[in-house]
Amino acid sequence: SAAEKGGYEYFMAKEIDEQPRAVADTLLGRHSETGEMTLDEVRLTDQDLRDVDKVFIVACGTSYHAGQVAKYAIEHWTRIPCEVELASEFRYRDPVLDRSTLVVAISQSGETMDTLMALRHAKEQKARVLAICNTNGSTIPRESDAVLYTHGGPEIAVASTKAFLTQLTACYLVGLHLAQVRGVMFADEVGAVLERLNQMPAKIRAVLDAMGPVRELAVDLAAAKSVLFIGRHVGYPVALEGALKLKELAYMHAEGFAAGELKHGPISLIEPGTPVVCVVPSPRGRSVLRDKLVSNIQEVRARGARTIVIAEEGDEAVVPFADHVIFVPPTPTLLAPLVTTVPLQVLACEIASARGHDVDQPRNLAKSVTVE
Ligand code: G6P
Repeated sequence: SAAEKGGYEYFMAKEIDEQPRAVADTLLGRHSETGEMTLDEVRLTDQDLRDVDKVFIVACGTSYHAGQVAKYAIEHWTRIPCEVELASEFRYRDPVLDRSTLVVAISQSGETMDTLMALRHAKEQKARVLAICNTNGSTIPRESDAVLYTHGGPEIAVASTKAFLTQLTACYLVGLHLAQVRGVMFADEVGAVLERLNQMPAKIRAVLDAMGPVRELAVDLAAAKSVLFIGRHVGYPVALEGALKLKELAYMHAEGFAAGELKHGPISLIEPGTPVVCVVPSPRGRSVLRDKLVSNIQEVRARGARTIVIAEEGDEAVVPFADHVIFVPPTPTLLAPLVTTVPLQVLACEIASARGHDVDQPRNLAKSVTVE
């Protein structure tokens, strides 16, 4: 009903707007006065976590993209090898698992059958299982050894938005927790990252408050045949998520690529006017990556692409290569997906709406897929 939507046209619009609060709630109370991080239900000892020599993340859909971002953070912070795998592929390829493997299952609903079956397979092989989940008491957390609940609140729209940002937040917390327990990061280093994380809700709010031009752009893009998304590092899964949102909601052909792969195929898709959304890394962090992405923008533009550039405020050097620039507040490289994803969600929501689709109930899709 209109009342449930709280004045928004769609649940999705409401949920996109709730993201600063959802991320803040997921962070709330995770850091004790002694500098210890706290998960929710933990049936794993610190020693179990110190014994971990391999992390596998399993998930589906948007949750899988959260896992892809998490890999960058977990490996960087913990120095433990981490792989991300689609839950539907995981158990059928006979993965190497034992009691020193930590399997992280990410699921908004906690009921996705493929993710549940991957988790059960991992447990049969004696791996430890940690769930990141938005639904209290659902099957996946019940069957896991430890749980970190995302406090996003109920997500009604089929396409996941606030759950994704809270999953990212939870993944960062898991990475920091592992790094701390294993002594790879000191409490003050963990504290410094947590401080940056605590600044994210205000930054997400700032992005949301500047979405006017993105709405106008969406109307313009509604007739496009296909939209491509490129990114590097954590911007690569953001590109995949931007493309998934557009497919799910607008029923348009959309694909995300690692920008470095353009020359190995995707660049041949560019026709005059093809929109390419480019997720540019921060110029302050790994500036090599940023410079490479700027070259990629020039490459696609030289072939006639219409470039829509997501860049950090102050990175004025991207402006000459951009048909449209969307600036986001400066953020540490690993945390950037918390802000760079937001314009892509709004873009997909608005394009779908401009094309006259039911944004909350896209055709053929279900909120929770409980069959394999
Ligand atoms: C469905 C939903 C997606 C979601 C995916 C995984 O496909 O439409 O939005 O990302 O399932 O769901 P989960 O509840 O496991 O995160």
